[in-house]
Amino acid sequence: MPGRKERIINYFNHYLDERYNMPVARDFIDKQMHKRLPPHTGWPHVFGSLSLILFLSQIITGILLLIYYRPTPEEAHKSIQYITADVHFGWLYRQVHAWGATLMILAVILHMARTFFMGTYKKPRELTWVIGVIIFIVTIVFGFTGYLLPWNQLSYWATTVGTEISGAIPIVGPWMKTFILGSENVSGETLSRFFTVHVIILPWILFFLVAIHLVLMRSQNLATMEPVGEERPTPPECGIPFWPVHLAKEGCVTLIVLGILVTLSVLSPWEIGEPADPLQTPEAIKPEWYFLPTYQLLKYFTGPMGKILGIGVSMVPFVLLLVWPYLDRSKPRHPKQRPISTTIGVAALILALFFGVLGHFSESHLTLLGQTYEIDVYGVPHRIDRETAVQVGEETDHPEKGMHDQEHRTKNTF
Ligand code: HEM
Repeated sequence: MPGRKERIINYFNHYLDERYNMPVARDFIDKQMHKRLPPHTGWPHVFGSLSLILFLSQIITGILLLIYYRPTPEEAHKSIQYITADVHFGWLYRQVHAWGATLMILAVILHMARTFFMGTYKKPRELTWVIGVIIFIVTIVFGFTGYLLPWNQLSYWATTVGTEISGAIPIVGPWMKTFILGSENVSGETLSRFFTVHVIILPWILFFLVAIHLVLMRSQNLATMEPVGEERPTPPECGIPFWPVHLAKEGCVTLIVLGILVTLSVLSPWEIGEPADPLQTPEAIKPEWYFLPTYQLLKYFTGPMGKILGIGVSMVPFVLLLVWPYLDRSKPRHPKQRPISTTIGVAALILALFFGVLGHFSESHLTLLGQTYEIDVYGVPHRIDRETAVQVGEETDHPEKGMHDQEHRTKNTF
């Protein structure tokens, strides 16, 4: 006599069998679950599914935020305060959403680095890569549009600086800037546009792009380490079973990252900041970490022609990423067998990190081993005397200034 649980399952199966062609569906799911992955598949292969989990987490926490968020200049900041202070677990899902954005971008970058260094962008997976690059760009636009929504000083002015860059593009720039902002400056129109793009347009675009990406990846299976044209289907006896082996690894990493997400949310919460004030420009306006390399690079290009050149230069990495599978037509996949690609990849990561660090420390004061330095806009440190250092310390620590996130970012002590 089957138990209660089995009877419910049997009834449910019977119900579906009578109405749909369930054997085909079961066969499909079975094949996907038991698919054999190439023998080298391991921990570095978990970043793709980690990006997917973090995307799902963003959707869930985003929907929860939407219940109380109000996209108008009068209410946006207050509604975030309300969510944080009065809504049950509101503080938690707001933090998980804010930290989730950072972790998702990090996971996508790690996944991109893994696929780059293992040469998986090569034939026949060029389109999987190109769609991946578009996914990456959409993910950072997600970050940019979401940043304005709390409508605080930092988000208002960072958006002002960010959108001014588009205005410097020749011919179409001024039109583009007005199209993005909906007015001459960041205003209620901008908030409304960014909100629509952030909660409706981008989620659907990303959903469809990720779906196509996964279908392409599954239909071709993961790349082996054999050179282009020499790939053989993985024989069942040497492959890694997706279920339970690889899925267990993905489960482990997901649990650890969700733990990190909640820990960061509790121990290092994002501040709400002061409400946006279009009449008062804060001292140093810094964008989020993933825009820092571009932001810092653009500073070295001054004057109208310089700005245009700077925009051109900062777009080069994205264009190169998009066309990379068509530029690198060599056959080997192993990083050691393609030294030029590997060197370019490593150099690009070091440069991004270098400009990112310069951007982080620029326009701030840094105390290192008892000596205080003033870091100028280009990231060059200048030693300052003890008296000025004490004044700087007093200014930034002054209780009336409230030590908002803006001030936190301008004083670094080691
Ligand atoms: C939300 C973003 C993304 C999701 C959810 C996602 C998901 C996945 C998954 C689950 C895999 C298979 C397992 C793995 O290799 O980790 C995969 C493979 C792949 N992804 Fe992504 N991906 C994303 C973004 C990207 C980006 C930004 C790129 C590159 C620019 C990219 C390029 C590739 C390539 C080339 C493969 C094939 C790897 C191989 O054959 O070994 N993906 N993706």
